[in-house]
Amino acid sequence: MPPKSPGVLRSVVTGVGGFLPDRIVTNDELSRIVDTSDEWIRERTGIRQRRQAADDTPVSDLAVEAARRALAAAGRTPQDVDLIVVATTTPDLTFPATATIVQRKLGCPVGIAFDVQAVCSGFVYALSVADGFVARDRSKCALVIGAETMTRLMDWTDRGTCVLFGDGAGAVVLEPGEGEGTTADRGLLGFALRADGTKQELLYVDGGVSTNRQTGYLRMQGNQVFRHAVVNISEAVTAAAADAGVAVPEVDWFIPHQANQRILEGVARRLGIDENKVISTVAEHANTSAASIPLALDEGVKDGRIRPGQLLLLEAMGGGLTWGACVLRL
Ligand code: ACO
Repeated sequence: MPPKSPGVLRSVVTGVGGFLPDRIVTNDELSRIVDTSDEWIRERTGIRQRRQAADDTPVSDLAVEAARRALAAAGRTPQDVDLIVVATTTPDLTFPATATIVQRKLGCPVGIAFDVQAVCSGFVYALSVADGFVARDRSKCALVIGAETMTRLMDWTDRGTCVLFGDGAGAVVLEPGEGEGTTADRGLLGFALRADGTKQELLYVDGGVSTNRQTGYLRMQGNQVFRHAVVNISEAVTAAAADAGVAVPEVDWFIPHQANQRILEGVARRLGIDENKVISTVAEHANTSAASIPLALDEGVKDGRIRPGQLLLLEAMGGGLTWGACVLRL
Protein backbone atom coordinates (compact mmCIF):
# COMPACT_ATOMS: atom_id res chain seq x y z
CA MET A 1 0.00 0.00 0.00
CA PRO A 2 1.45 3.42 -0.89
CA PRO A 3 1.94 5.69 2.13
CA LYS A 4 -1.01 8.01 2.70
CA SER A 5 -0.06 11.53 1.58
CA PRO A 6 -0.16 14.01 4.45
CA GLY A 7 -3.37 16.05 4.50
CA VAL A 8 -3.60 19.81 4.16
CA LEU A 9 -5.03 21.75 7.07
CA ARG A 10 -7.91 24.03 6.03
CA SER A 11 -9.86 26.67 7.92
CA VAL A 12 -13.43 25.40 7.70
CA VAL A 13 -16.52 27.53 8.35
CA THR A 14 -18.51 25.40 10.81
CA GLY A 15 -21.11 27.97 11.90
CA VAL A 16 -22.64 31.24 10.71
CA GLY A 17 -24.68 33.81 12.64
CA GLY A 18 -26.10 37.26 12.14
CA PHE A 19 -27.74 39.94 14.25
CA LEU A 20 -29.62 43.12 13.34
CA PRO A 21 -30.89 45.75 15.77
CA ASP A 22 -34.69 46.00 16.02
CA ARG A 23 -35.19 49.55 14.83
CA ILE A 24 -36.00 49.85 11.11
CA VAL A 25 -35.37 53.21 9.43
CA THR A 26 -37.27 53.54 6.16
CA ASN A 27 -36.37 55.75 3.22
CA ASP A 28 -39.51 57.79 3.90
CA GLU A 29 -38.26 58.48 7.42
CA LEU A 30 -34.96 59.77 6.02
CA SER A 31 -36.82 61.94 3.52
CA ARG A 32 -38.13 63.88 6.51
CA ILE A 33 -34.52 64.62 7.63
CA VAL A 34 -32.75 65.37 4.32
CA ASP A 35 -33.85 66.37 0.81
CA THR A 36 -34.28 62.87 -0.64
CA SER A 37 -37.04 60.42 -1.55
CA ASP A 38 -37.80 56.72 -1.34
CA GLU A 39 -37.86 56.64 -5.13
CA TRP A 40 -34.38 58.22 -5.53
CA ILE A 41 -32.79 55.92 -2.95
CA ARG A 42 -34.38 52.75 -4.36
CA GLU A 43 -33.53 53.62 -7.98
CA ARG A 44 -29.90 54.60 -7.35
CA THR A 45 -29.03 52.05 -4.66
CA GLY A 46 -31.70 49.37 -4.28
CA ILE A 47 -31.94 50.24 -0.57
CA ARG A 48 -35.44 50.21 0.97
CA GLN A 49 -34.56 50.32 4.66
CA ARG A 50 -31.70 49.96 7.14
CA ARG A 51 -31.38 49.04 10.84
CA GLN A 52 -30.16 51.42 13.51
CA ALA A 53 -28.79 50.38 16.90
CA ALA A 54 -30.14 52.15 19.98
CA ASP A 55 -27.89 54.95 21.27
CA ASP A 56 -26.93 52.92 24.34
CA THR A 57 -26.03 49.78 22.33
CA PRO A 58 -22.30 49.53 21.59
CA VAL A 59 -21.10 47.61 18.57
CA SER A 60 -19.75 44.85 20.83
CA ASP A 61 -23.34 43.96 21.81
CA LEU A 62 -24.22 43.37 18.15
CA ALA A 63 -21.02 41.34 17.71
CA VAL A 64 -21.76 39.20 20.79
CA GLU A 65 -25.26 38.29 19.55
CA ALA A 66 -23.96 37.34 16.08
CA ALA A 67 -21.14 35.32 17.68
CA ARG A 68 -23.56 33.45 19.99
CA ARG A 69 -25.63 32.42 16.98
CA ALA A 70 -22.58 31.33 14.98
CA LEU A 71 -21.29 29.27 17.93
CA ALA A 72 -24.69 27.61 18.39
CA ALA A 73 -24.77 26.75 14.66
CA ALA A 74 -21.29 25.21 14.98
CA GLY A 75 -22.23 23.27 18.13
CA ARG A 76 -19.54 25.13 20.09
CA THR A 77 -19.61 27.18 23.27
CA PRO A 78 -17.69 30.33 24.26
CA GLN A 79 -15.41 28.02 26.30
CA ASP A 80 -14.11 26.52 23.03
CA VAL A 81 -13.04 29.85 21.51
CA ASP A 82 -9.29 30.56 21.43
CA LEU A 83 -9.18 33.35 18.80
CA ILE A 84 -11.48 36.31 18.14
CA VAL A 85 -10.96 38.67 15.21
CA VAL A 86 -13.41 41.54 14.92
CA ALA A 87 -13.54 43.58 11.72
CA THR A 88 -14.97 46.98 12.59
CA THR A 89 -14.66 50.66 11.73
CA THR A 90 -16.84 51.68 14.66
CA PRO A 91 -15.23 50.20 17.80
CA ASP A 92 -16.75 50.65 21.26
CA LEU A 93 -13.61 52.50 22.41
CA THR A 94 -10.35 53.70 20.89
CA PHE A 95 -8.85 50.89 22.92
CA PRO A 96 -9.04 48.10 23.97
CA ALA A 97 -9.93 46.24 20.81
CA THR A 98 -13.62 45.41 20.47
CA ALA A 99 -12.56 41.76 20.15
CA THR A 100 -11.39 41.75 23.78
CA ILE A 101 -14.70 43.28 24.90
CA VAL A 102 -16.53 40.56 22.97
CA GLN A 103 -14.28 37.96 24.62
CA ARG A 104 -15.21 39.28 28.08
CA LYS A 105 -18.95 39.54 27.34
CA LEU A 106 -19.08 36.03 25.87
CA GLY A 107 -17.03 34.61 28.75
CA CYS A 108 -14.35 33.07 26.55
CA PRO A 109 -11.14 31.84 28.19
CA VAL A 110 -7.81 33.67 27.82
CA GLY A 111 -6.79 33.45 24.18
CA ILE A 112 -6.03 35.73 21.24
CA ALA A 113 -8.31 38.69 20.45
CA PHE A 114 -7.79 41.74 18.26
CA ASP A 115 -9.50 43.97 15.69
CA VAL A 116 -8.91 44.38 11.97
CA GLN A 117 -9.60 47.74 10.34
CA ALA A 118 -10.11 47.61 6.59
CA VAL A 119 -13.53 49.31 6.54
CA CYS A 120 -16.00 47.56 4.19
CA SER A 121 -13.33 45.02 3.19
CA GLY A 122 -12.73 44.21 6.85
CA PHE A 123 -14.45 40.83 6.92
CA VAL A 124 -12.49 39.48 3.95
CA TYR A 125 -9.24 40.77 5.48
CA ALA A 126 -10.18 39.28 8.88
CA LEU A 127 -10.90 35.87 7.34
CA SER A 128 -7.45 35.88 5.76
CA VAL A 129 -5.81 36.87 9.06
CA ALA A 130 -7.68 34.17 10.99
CA ASP A 131 -6.76 31.62 8.30
CA GLY A 132 -3.13 32.35 9.24
CA PHE A 133 -3.86 30.94 12.72
CA VAL A 134 -6.37 28.17 12.02
CA ALA A 135 -4.68 26.59 8.99
CA ARG A 136 -1.38 26.57 10.92
CA ASP A 137 -3.01 24.75 13.83
CA ARG A 138 -2.57 27.78 16.11
CA SER A 139 -6.31 28.04 16.73
CA LYS A 140 -8.82 25.23 17.20
CA CYS A 141 -11.90 27.44 17.29
CA ALA A 142 -11.89 30.98 15.93
CA LEU A 143 -14.62 33.57 15.80
CA VAL A 144 -14.40 35.99 12.88
CA ILE A 145 -16.90 38.80 13.28
CA GLY A 146 -17.87 41.79 11.17
CA ALA A 147 -19.73 44.31 13.34
CA GLU A 148 -20.62 47.93 12.67
CA THR A 149 -22.64 50.88 13.93
CA MET A 150 -22.10 52.89 10.74
CA THR A 151 -25.06 55.18 11.50
CA ARG A 152 -22.86 56.76 14.21
CA LEU A 153 -20.48 58.05 11.49
CA MET A 154 -23.21 59.77 9.49
CA ASP A 155 -23.48 63.49 8.84
CA TRP A 156 -27.29 63.64 8.91
CA THR A 157 -27.22 66.78 6.74
CA ASP A 158 -25.41 64.99 3.87
CA ARG A 159 -27.99 63.23 1.69
CA GLY A 160 -25.22 61.72 -0.45
CA THR A 161 -24.09 59.45 2.41
CA CYS A 162 -26.60 59.23 5.27
CA VAL A 163 -29.10 57.22 3.23
CA LEU A 164 -26.60 54.48 2.38
CA PHE A 165 -25.53 52.89 5.66
CA GLY A 166 -26.95 50.72 8.44
CA ASP A 167 -25.96 48.81 11.59
CA GLY A 168 -25.55 45.06 12.21
CA ALA A 169 -23.17 42.19 12.82
CA GLY A 170 -22.35 38.81 11.32
CA ALA A 171 -20.00 36.08 12.48
CA VAL A 172 -18.50 32.77 11.43
CA VAL A 173 -16.77 30.04 13.40
CA LEU A 174 -13.59 28.71 11.79
CA GLU A 175 -12.15 25.35 12.79
CA PRO A 176 -9.25 23.36 11.36
CA GLY A 177 -10.21 20.51 9.07
CA GLU A 178 -8.04 18.09 7.16
CA GLY A 179 -8.29 18.28 3.37
CA GLU A 180 -6.61 16.65 0.40
CA GLY A 181 -5.19 19.90 -0.98
CA THR A 182 -7.77 19.99 -3.78
CA THR A 183 -10.62 22.34 -4.61
CA ALA A 184 -13.00 19.68 -3.27
CA ASP A 185 -11.75 20.43 0.27
CA ARG A 186 -14.03 22.22 2.68
CA GLY A 187 -12.55 25.50 3.95
CA LEU A 188 -10.92 28.72 2.82
CA LEU A 189 -9.32 27.99 -0.55
CA GLY A 190 -8.06 31.28 -1.96
CA PHE A 191 -7.72 35.02 -1.37
CA ALA A 192 -6.86 38.26 -3.12
CA LEU A 193 -6.40 41.32 -0.88
CA ARG A 194 -5.62 44.82 -2.17
CA ALA A 195 -5.13 48.37 -0.87
CA ASP A 196 -4.41 51.69 -2.60
CA GLY A 197 -3.82 54.47 -0.06
CA THR A 198 -3.59 57.14 -2.76
CA LYS A 199 -7.40 56.96 -3.13
CA GLN A 200 -8.11 57.99 0.49
CA GLU A 201 -9.97 61.17 -0.49
CA LEU A 202 -12.69 59.15 -2.24
CA LEU A 203 -13.97 57.66 1.03
CA TYR A 204 -12.80 58.50 4.56
CA VAL A 205 -13.86 59.80 7.96
CA ASP A 206 -12.81 63.39 8.67
CA GLY A 207 -11.84 62.76 12.30
CA GLY A 208 -9.56 60.55 14.33
CA VAL A 209 -7.89 60.29 17.69
CA SER A 210 -4.45 61.25 16.38
CA THR A 211 -5.64 63.99 14.02
CA ASN A 212 -8.28 66.04 15.81
CA ARG A 213 -9.42 63.84 18.70
CA GLN A 214 -12.87 63.66 17.10
CA THR A 215 -14.91 60.74 15.82
CA GLY A 216 -15.61 62.61 12.59
CA TYR A 217 -18.09 62.01 9.79
CA LEU A 218 -18.00 59.77 6.76
CA ARG A 219 -17.10 61.67 3.56
CA MET A 220 -17.43 60.14 0.13
CA GLN A 221 -17.22 60.93 -3.57
CA GLY A 222 -19.91 58.37 -4.35
CA ASN A 223 -19.68 58.33 -8.12
CA GLN A 224 -15.87 57.90 -8.02
CA VAL A 225 -16.15 55.07 -5.47
CA PHE A 226 -18.75 53.46 -7.70
CA ARG A 227 -16.44 53.59 -10.74
CA HIS A 228 -13.50 52.04 -8.86
CA ALA A 229 -15.70 49.41 -7.17
CA VAL A 230 -16.78 47.55 -10.30
CA VAL A 231 -13.28 47.46 -11.83
CA ASN A 232 -11.38 46.67 -8.61
CA ILE A 233 -13.76 44.02 -7.31
CA SER A 234 -13.84 42.23 -10.66
CA GLU A 235 -10.03 42.01 -10.71
CA ALA A 236 -9.88 40.71 -7.12
CA VAL A 237 -12.59 38.10 -7.77
CA THR A 238 -10.66 36.77 -10.76
CA ALA A 239 -7.42 36.71 -8.74
CA ALA A 240 -9.00 34.94 -5.73
CA ALA A 241 -10.53 32.31 -8.01
CA ALA A 242 -7.11 31.74 -9.61
CA ASP A 243 -5.51 31.51 -6.13
CA ALA A 244 -8.06 28.85 -5.18
CA GLY A 245 -7.64 27.02 -8.50
CA VAL A 246 -11.29 27.34 -9.51
CA ALA A 247 -13.01 29.02 -12.45
CA VAL A 248 -15.46 31.82 -11.63
CA PRO A 249 -18.44 30.01 -13.28
CA GLU A 250 -17.90 27.01 -10.95
CA VAL A 251 -18.88 29.12 -7.96
CA ASP A 252 -22.30 28.28 -6.51
CA TRP A 253 -22.92 31.57 -4.68
CA PHE A 254 -21.51 35.10 -4.84
CA ILE A 255 -21.78 36.89 -1.54
CA PRO A 256 -20.74 40.48 -2.20
CA HIS A 257 -20.31 43.34 0.19
CA GLN A 258 -23.72 45.00 0.12
CA ALA A 259 -23.13 48.65 -0.86
CA ASN A 260 -25.35 49.25 -3.83
CA GLN A 261 -27.50 46.94 -5.98
CA ARG A 262 -26.04 48.59 -9.12
CA ILE A 263 -22.49 47.70 -8.00
CA LEU A 264 -23.56 44.08 -7.37
CA GLU A 265 -25.13 43.90 -10.83
CA GLY A 266 -22.18 45.70 -12.50
CA VAL A 267 -19.67 43.23 -11.06
CA ALA A 268 -21.86 40.23 -11.95
CA ARG A 269 -22.26 41.49 -15.54
CA ARG A 270 -18.53 42.14 -15.96
CA LEU A 271 -17.66 38.63 -14.73
CA GLY A 272 -20.50 36.88 -16.56
CA ILE A 273 -22.04 35.72 -13.28
CA ASP A 274 -25.67 34.60 -13.36
CA GLU A 275 -27.58 37.14 -11.24
CA ASN A 276 -29.54 34.26 -9.63
CA LYS A 277 -26.27 33.21 -7.97
CA VAL A 278 -25.84 36.59 -6.22
CA ILE A 279 -27.00 36.93 -2.61
CA SER A 280 -28.38 40.43 -2.11
CA THR A 281 -29.49 41.91 1.20
CA VAL A 282 -28.85 45.54 0.37
CA ALA A 283 -32.58 46.34 0.11
CA GLU A 284 -33.21 45.47 3.78
CA HIS A 285 -29.79 46.00 5.42
CA ALA A 286 -28.24 48.86 3.37
CA ASN A 287 -24.44 49.07 3.67
CA THR A 288 -23.32 47.63 7.02
CA SER A 289 -19.63 47.82 6.07
CA ALA A 290 -17.64 44.87 7.51
CA ALA A 291 -20.87 43.20 8.70
CA SER A 292 -22.54 43.00 5.31
CA ILE A 293 -20.88 39.84 3.95
CA PRO A 294 -21.39 37.62 7.02
CA LEU A 295 -24.97 38.96 7.32
CA ALA A 296 -25.66 38.03 3.69
CA LEU A 297 -24.01 34.64 4.21
CA ASP A 298 -26.19 34.08 7.28
CA GLU A 299 -29.33 34.97 5.35
CA GLY A 300 -28.45 32.56 2.50
CA VAL A 301 -27.67 29.74 4.95
CA LYS A 302 -30.80 30.36 7.04
CA ASP A 303 -33.18 30.38 4.06
CA GLY A 304 -31.62 27.16 2.71
CA ARG A 305 -30.13 28.56 -0.52
CA ILE A 306 -26.51 28.13 0.65
CA ARG A 307 -25.73 24.54 1.61
CA PRO A 308 -22.71 22.68 3.03
CA GLY A 309 -20.26 21.62 0.33
CA GLN A 310 -21.04 24.55 -1.98
CA LEU A 311 -18.38 26.84 -3.41
CA LEU A 312 -18.74 30.47 -2.28
CA LEU A 313 -17.07 33.66 -3.44
CA LEU A 314 -17.02 36.66 -1.10
CA GLU A 315 -15.91 40.10 -2.30
CA ALA A 316 -15.73 43.66 -0.96
CA MET A 317 -14.38 47.15 -1.46
CA GLY A 318 -14.20 50.00 1.01
CA GLY A 319 -12.36 53.01 2.39
CA GLY A 320 -8.61 53.05 1.97
CA LEU A 321 -9.29 52.16 -0.71
CA THR A 322 -9.15 48.50 0.28
CA TRP A 323 -10.69 45.62 -1.58
CA GLY A 324 -10.48 41.86 -1.83
CA ALA A 325 -12.13 38.52 -2.42
CA CYS A 326 -12.15 35.05 -0.87
CA VAL A 327 -13.13 31.64 -2.23
CA LEU A 328 -14.29 28.99 0.22
CA ARG A 329 -16.10 25.69 0.24
CA LEU A 330 -18.70 25.56 3.00
N1 ACO B 1 -31.36 61.92 -2.61
C1 ACO B 1 -31.57 62.72 -3.68
N2 ACO B 1 -30.57 63.21 -4.42
C2 ACO B 1 -29.32 62.86 -4.09
C3 ACO B 1 -29.04 62.04 -2.99
C4 ACO B 1 -30.12 61.57 -2.22
N3 ACO B 1 -29.97 60.76 -1.17
N4 ACO B 1 -27.69 61.87 -2.90
C5 ACO B 1 -27.15 62.56 -3.91
N5 ACO B 1 -28.13 63.18 -4.64
C6 ACO B 1 -28.00 64.05 -5.80
C7 ACO B 1 -26.66 64.75 -5.84
O1 ACO B 1 -26.67 65.90 -5.03
C8 ACO B 1 -26.58 65.09 -7.30
O2 ACO B 1 -27.37 66.24 -7.53
P1 ACO B 1 -26.88 67.40 -8.56
O3 ACO B 1 -26.77 66.68 -9.88
O4 ACO B 1 -27.99 68.38 -8.47
O5 ACO B 1 -25.56 67.84 -8.02
C9 ACO B 1 -27.25 63.91 -8.01
O6 ACO B 1 -28.02 63.26 -6.99
C10 ACO B 1 -26.27 62.95 -8.63
O7 ACO B 1 -25.23 62.65 -7.67
P2 ACO B 1 -24.21 61.47 -7.89
O8 ACO B 1 -23.37 61.38 -6.68
O9 ACO B 1 -23.53 61.65 -9.21
O10 ACO B 1 -25.23 60.25 -8.00
P3 ACO B 1 -24.95 58.75 -8.33
O11 ACO B 1 -25.82 58.29 -9.43
O12 ACO B 1 -23.47 58.47 -8.45
O13 ACO B 1 -25.47 58.00 -7.02
C11 ACO B 1 -24.54 57.06 -5.03
C12 ACO B 1 -24.90 58.33 -5.78
C13 ACO B 1 -25.81 56.29 -4.76
C14 ACO B 1 -23.86 57.43 -3.74
C15 ACO B 1 -23.61 56.20 -5.90
O14 ACO B 1 -22.56 56.96 -6.42
C16 ACO B 1 -23.02 55.06 -5.11
O15 ACO B 1 -23.70 54.20 -4.61
N6 ACO B 1 -21.69 54.99 -5.02
C17 ACO B 1 -21.00 53.95 -4.30
C18 ACO B 1 -20.75 54.47 -2.96
C19 ACO B 1 -20.74 53.39 -1.90
O16 ACO B 1 -21.49 52.46 -1.95
N7 ACO B 1 -19.90 53.58 -0.93
C20 ACO B 1 -19.86 52.73 0.20
C21 ACO B 1 -18.52 52.31 0.62
S1 ACO B 1 -17.57 51.67 -0.67
C22 ACO B 1 -18.34 50.33 -1.06
O17 ACO B 1 -18.95 49.78 -0.22
C23 ACO B 1 -18.24 49.84 -2.44
